[in-house]
Amino acid sequence: MRPLRIAALAVFTLLATSAQAQQPGASAPAPAAATAQAATTVKGNAERGHELTFTCKGCHGVTGYRNAYPNYHVPRLAGQNEQYLINALTGYREGTRKHPTMQAQAQSFSPQDIADIAAYLATLK
Ligand code: HEC
Repeated sequence: MRPLRIAALAVFTLLATSAQAQQPGASAPAPAAATAQAATTVKGNAERGHELTFTCKGCHGVTGYRNAYPNYHVPRLAGQNEQYLINALTGYREGTRKHPTMQAQAQSFSPQDIADIAAYLATLK
């Protein structure tokens, strides 16, 4: 009985800490102190983001919202909200948002890459 309870407690503690760890940055404005670190570790660099998005154009198109061929709809990225893009790409990367193509794309990116891409795309008109 006892080892079981200890194991259950350990699992619970793990879950609680990982849930906490995911909170900062996930939702909108948190106190400056809590977000300061995340902001310094992943600050988007638009120039680098530009280089990382060359492969996206095949589908997201030069104007940002149509696949070149075959011609099916893809979401518009140009000028999209930066945080929205970060959330979308992070979702694909972590598998919380499912789409085989975009998951394959996003899994090759680090959080820094994602921040850079979002910074770049958000500057487009
Ligand atoms: C093979 C085609 C293809 C390529 C290449 C591709 N995408 Fe996508 N992308 C899609 C499709 C289709 C969707 C819509 C998926 C869905 O419904 O979740 C999408 C969705 C997205 C979204 C979510 C947009 C929203 O409004 O929710 C983002 C952000 C995104 N792509 C970024 C990128 C970036 C950045 C690249 C390049 C690194 C890229 N994509 C390359 C086809 C592609």
